[in-house]
Amino acid sequence: MENKEKQPLVQVKHLCKYFKVGRHADLKAVDDVSFDIYKGETVGLVGESGCGKSTTGRCMIRLYEPTKGEVIYDGKDITKLSKAEQKEFCRKVQMIFQNPYASLNSRMTVKEIVGEGLKQHGVPKNEIDKRVQALLETVGLNKDHMSRFPHEFSGGQRQRIGIARALSVDPEFIICDEPISALDVSIQAQVINMLKDLQEERGLTYLFVAHDLSVVKYISDRVVVMYLGMVVEQAETEELYSNPQHPYTKALLSAIPEADPDKAKANRRIPIKGEIPSPINPKQCCRFAERCEYATDRCFNEVPELREVCPGHKVACHLMDEK
Ligand SMILES: Nc1ncnc2c1ncn2[C@@H]1O[C@H](COP(=O)(O)OP(=O)(O)O)[C@@H](O)[C@H]1O
Ligand SMILES: [Mg+2]
Repeated sequence: MENKEKQPLVQVKHLCKYFKVGRHADLKAVDDVSFDIYKGETVGLVGESGCGKSTTGRCMIRLYEPTKGEVIYDGKDITKLSKAEQKEFCRKVQMIFQNPYASLNSRMTVKEIVGEGLKQHGVPKNEIDKRVQALLETVGLNKDHMSRFPHEFSGGQRQRIGIARALSVDPEFIICDEPISALDVSIQAQVINMLKDLQEERGLTYLFVAHDLSVVKYISDRVVVMYLGMVVEQAETEELYSNPQHPYTKALLSAIPEADPDKAKANRRIPIKGEIPSPINPKQCCRFAERCEYATDRCFNEVPELREVCPGHKVACHLMDEK
């Protein structure tokens, strides 16, 4: 089936999340972000630390109420669900967190952590042990781990426990918020591969959040690039990596280490000038302008719209008009 005939599983529409940080100060963590996620695909959400990725994810799972805009799940606005629909939504949509040290309750055993959701969703008590054991095996742990506490595990193992917890309620959609950023490089690939296999076996849909473009290339079907609360570019993965348009995306891509020395020589590393600016009361202009080597007057005075430059490829940059 063609994507355009299907309704997306998740639609983020003009989502804004502002935090009041003073009498006249709004921290615009997410400011008019829109993208869709189709069933069974992985969308990578990428951008430097502080650009609003986690806030976007939190709004999508109702941990935060949006300031403006909406999140539509399976055709329904998630802030307008009935009690019964809310319960189902809490089951269908799960999150895996960045920090496997902070996201597991240190006073609960693995059995309690993984079994909690099962209990809440009405799995009979005498079945919970068996289900937890099966879930642990699914993520490469075993039943001997059930009575242990989180501190007895390595970072990679803790993330596996977090994944087992997310899987316990048989979700449809999982927000993976930098699930490997806190892990040793040596085990990052194992966890990514496991997430990929689980997706295939269970038909899961993922939003995969990362702060650089190297990780998401391997796991994503499409990529959304954020900068300071806004989407600057989105496209299918192949297209984004081979034909990036936004200067920020180009700079992020040039920062990925190239294993092949000949290619590395050919790729000019594009520096990004200065520091990421503050998201408090941002100016109505291109938020990347002050760091962009191509910025013109217009970039400092007008917010660029996110526009389709070819099918499925959208860019928010005034330079596109000059092409
Ligand atoms: N609860 C909050 N209160 C105030 N500011 C917040 C809160 N959560 C996040 N922020 C701010 O919002 C911006 C985006 O944060 P976040 O979504 O965590 O970014 P990322 O996940 O991309 O690193 C940052 O400037 C951060 O300091
Ligand atoms: Mg984050």
